[in-house]
Amino acid sequence: MSPLPAHVRIVEVGARDGLQNEKTIVPAAVKVELIDRLTDCGLQTIEATSFVSPKWVPQLADAADVFAAIRKKPGVRYPVLVPNLQGYDRAHAVGATEIAVFTAASEAFNRKNINASIDESIARFAPVMERARSDGVAVRGYVSTVLGCPYQGEVPLADVVRVAKRLHDLGCYEISLGDTIGIGTPARARMMLAAVAQDVPMSALAVHFHDTRGQALANILACLELGVGVVDSAVSGVGGCPYAHGATGNVASEDVVYMLHGMGISTGIDLPKLIETGRWLSARLARDNGSKVGKAA
Ligand code: HMG
Ligand code: MG
Repeated sequence: MSPLPAHVRIVEVGARDGLQNEKTIVPAAVKVELIDRLTDCGLQTIEATSFVSPKWVPQLADAADVFAAIRKKPGVRYPVLVPNLQGYDRAHAVGATEIAVFTAASEAFNRKNINASIDESIARFAPVMERARSDGVAVRGYVSTVLGCPYQGEVPLADVVRVAKRLHDLGCYEISLGDTIGIGTPARARMMLAAVAQDVPMSALAVHFHDTRGQALANILACLELGVGVVDSAVSGVGGCPYAHGATGNVASEDVVYMLHGMGISTGIDLPKLIETGRWLSARLARDNGSKVGKAA
């Protein structure tokens, strides 16, 4: 075990991973207000939206409008999801300076999520990476289904390591390891991270847990003990994945920050403000679509 990090960077994914899964479409103005509030909470990285096909994810069809309207605080990163060159062009046109590409360790999940094999998805990223490099755009990479797949079941560790290493070799500065369906437990999460860290430096890894079975905080702690210093989470625990049925929300940012601060680990985040933002979002979503989301933080 490594000593726990003194500081953890939270990558707030609620506006993207959360809102992509809402039953009804959240108005662009609410998305913009959410991101601006998150900026005021002191977050350093806020995933803003997703330039995927609006036919596949209509919830985020307003990506360009939202990205253009958010207040961009100097020093804060606002990455956006991009699946292909078409997405890159849309993101670049509105001035995105950081993108995230995404694939999975499971062939079956990739087919459902992006209609491509792992190899095809990575082949699509190559020209995106090239353009990003020449435009000075930073690229983060996601590997989904690192602890199990809703279609394939077991995902061999070797596949997780291979895909993470390929994204890193391609030029992603950070690889986020996603337990998309929240199936992991601490010992397996630790084993998975340790295996990936043999081929990709720990300083270039992040963890991304969905909380389907209430394991996310325990999994995060297990990974912090191995030395990871970047954690993805979503305010109010919103989210899921439209192509991973049964996947509930991401671990709630409020819960992660509460745990970290309680352990003497800094995040730079104003927790009371974050809790207030989570309550505001839950109330807005309940009002807009009657959905039952969020946690009473
Ligand atoms: P496809 O249908 O195979 O693509 O979708 P295509 O190239 O044949 O294009 C079909 C149509 O989409 C065409 O339009 C394209 O122009 C359009 P048409 O000619 O029919 O009018 N199109 C686009 N439009 C706008 N922006 C684009 C774009 N690309 C094509 N970028 C594709 C392939 C990848 C596009 C599609 O499958 C897709 O968009 N998938 C996204 C699915 C998604 O967003 N899933 C959730 C995010 S991943 C996740 O949540 C997991 C994560 O959180 C980590 C974890 O938890 O594990 C990251
Ligand atoms: Mg996710």
